[in-house]
Amino acid sequence: MLIKRPLDVLPSEITPQPVYNRRREFMKAAAAGAILAATGCSDDTESAPDATREKFTSVATSRFSTVEKPTEYKHVTGYNNYYEFGTEKSDPALYAGHLKTRPWTVSVEGECLKPRTFGIEELIKRPLEERVYRLRCVEAWSMVIPWVGFELNALLKEVEPTGNAKFVEFVTAVQPDTMQGVHVPVLDWPYVEGLRIDEAMHPLTILAVGIFGEALPGQNGAPVRLVVPWKYGFKSGKSIVKIRLVAQQPRTAWEKASPTEYGFYSNVNPNVDHPRWSQETERRIPEFFSRRPTVIFNGYGDQVAGLYAGMDLKKYF
Ligand code: MTE
Repeated sequence: MLIKRPLDVLPSEITPQPVYNRRREFMKAAAAGAILAATGCSDDTESAPDATREKFTSVATSRFSTVEKPTEYKHVTGYNNYYEFGTEKSDPALYAGHLKTRPWTVSVEGECLKPRTFGIEELIKRPLEERVYRLRCVEAWSMVIPWVGFELNALLKEVEPTGNAKFVEFVTAVQPDTMQGVHVPVLDWPYVEGLRIDEAMHPLTILAVGIFGEALPGQNGAPVRLVVPWKYGFKSGKSIVKIRLVAQQPRTAWEKASPTEYGFYSNVNPNVDHPRWSQETERRIPEFFSRRPTVIFNGYGDQVAGLYAGMDLKKYF
């Protein structure tokens, strides 16, 4: 296995080759103005909490929060992966301000007795908690983010999953008029992610509706996104529109793009390298030269290791 230089991993190295080639097509089109002009996107970058963004007033603190210092707001909202808006880290902050987040519904359906569609207003009125979690990206960088949200298991219990519900599939938004990235098949849109039902029901798994006490900005997955802190960041789908309880393991967008590189489980694991780089260490944004050891399950092992007892985590990566 090829171990890459420890300092940083270039986008060309991270992205599977076929995806990288399509990304170049996208960039050419964007540079020619074809896509951006069609969508009317402009460059309003986020750098500080937004006075106009909805504030959550009664947010409980959580025993699950890390005591580590949160990454600065400008980095949490300025260094993102949201390929529907482009493949550069700065693209989501530049373009996701146009994401239409109202009206918004999340339908919860499939193997359950009481399928339901939840309006976003109803979701943000739930009792909310702040969960300060580490986010560890498969690209070997990490952040600490104060999310505002609620446990996914609360929502799933309301629809009464049947015994056939073995997995949960998350389908995220496709808005061709605001997301210039979906005009190019960088991934097989919509971006789909999945969890095993016990992972989805775990108390650490949350649906987030905010960061830093206020509504999520577009680039972080407005108006509602998944956060699964012991898995690589790509498992945490943004701007969710559908949650399906299913019997079979879902095929996720990244598995379709490159199954040898991005497995279904994708638990943070320093002992299992990505085929093209090591996962032993990570760079805490915005640090550049110092690296810290990556901890198995992103440090949440006490709570989640039991979910994988007896499993070969090299095989089920
Ligand atoms: N969700 C959607 N719909 N599209 C994406 O491209 N990128 C994923 C994940 N969720 C992505 C997504 C990846 S690779 C990461 S690392 C995290 O979002 C990043 O979340 P953040 O930008 O809020 O830090």
